Amino acid sequence: MIAYFNGRFLREEDIHVSPEDRGFLFADALYEVVRTYEGRLFETQAHWDRLTYGAKALRFNRTQFTELKEVAETLIRENGLTRGDATVYVQVTRGQARRSHAFPPPETPLTIYASARPFSPKSCALDGVSVILVSDQRWARCDIKTVGLTANVLAHQQALEHGAYEALFVRDGAVLEGTHTNLFTVVDGTVVTPPRTNYILGGITRQAVLDLCKELSIPAVENPVFESRLMEADEIMVVGTTTEITPVLRVNGQKLRSGVPGEITRRLWKAFREKAAGFED
Ligand code: PDD
Repeated sequence: MIAYFNGRFLREEDIHVSPEDRGFLFADALYEVVRTYEGRLFETQAHWDRLTYGAKALRFNRTQFTELKEVAETLIRENGLTRGDATVYVQVTRGQARRSHAFPPPETPLTIYASARPFSPKSCALDGVSVILVSDQRWARCDIKTVGLTANVLAHQQALEHGAYEALFVRDGAVLEGTHTNLFTVVDGTVVTPPRTNYILGGITRQAVLDLCKELSIPAVENPVFESRLMEADEIMVVGTTTEITPVLRVNGQKLRSGVPGEITRRLWKAFREKAAGFED
């Protein structure tokens, strides 16, 4: 596969990241996962905007990455991914410098890496999945998409070992989001998703689902989802770039009341698939 590294397109095996890279040493880095449908990149501007938001929050010496649009398009083309689905992974680190907690000299170039992979959606069906609840061990800036994902990795592994698809983080009684997904519920015909705070990622799919609710005239609110009330929800969904809209049917092994994907989940799922099949670049 051809990948992009600091201004050049190279064979992946020819890319060598320095052991002094701050991404390696400190997880001092941001990332994005962008989806393509039949070769077309989905919601790219929103991904680049989130990267800029993160770069500002981390006080990187560069916060605009206008080259990435063309980089992502080139990776899709050069790797023969213009048919079917794919993902583009982008990582930006604070660059390479002798290990020190202090920022490196201001002229230190950021390290920029991007790659593309074919993607076959596993769970993007209406079959439904199980989730578990775990206590949120992450730092307090989950709105920044950093590669410091150890807590997410541990929680996701725990989910897999319990036969579940995803782990949902709970903090102070509120269910916030998954390890790589945002959370939606439906209560009495209203779609509910936790509000954007420093404790969740402002997901691109989350926003797309909120937009779809508007288009379909489905009432939607951004309100806390409490663990104590979760099982009273009529429907639960997890959403994300690789998960799309996936109904949740079990929480901690306990079946949701309805036991099957609900009507609003189905409507949103169908509308999302149509949008993914038909959007313009
Ligand atoms: N993760 N919350 C977290 C913690 C995430 O890591 C992600 C995405 C989401 C969903 O955001 P989006 O709709 O923009 O994909 C929510 C990516 C896909 C990953 O880590 O692979």
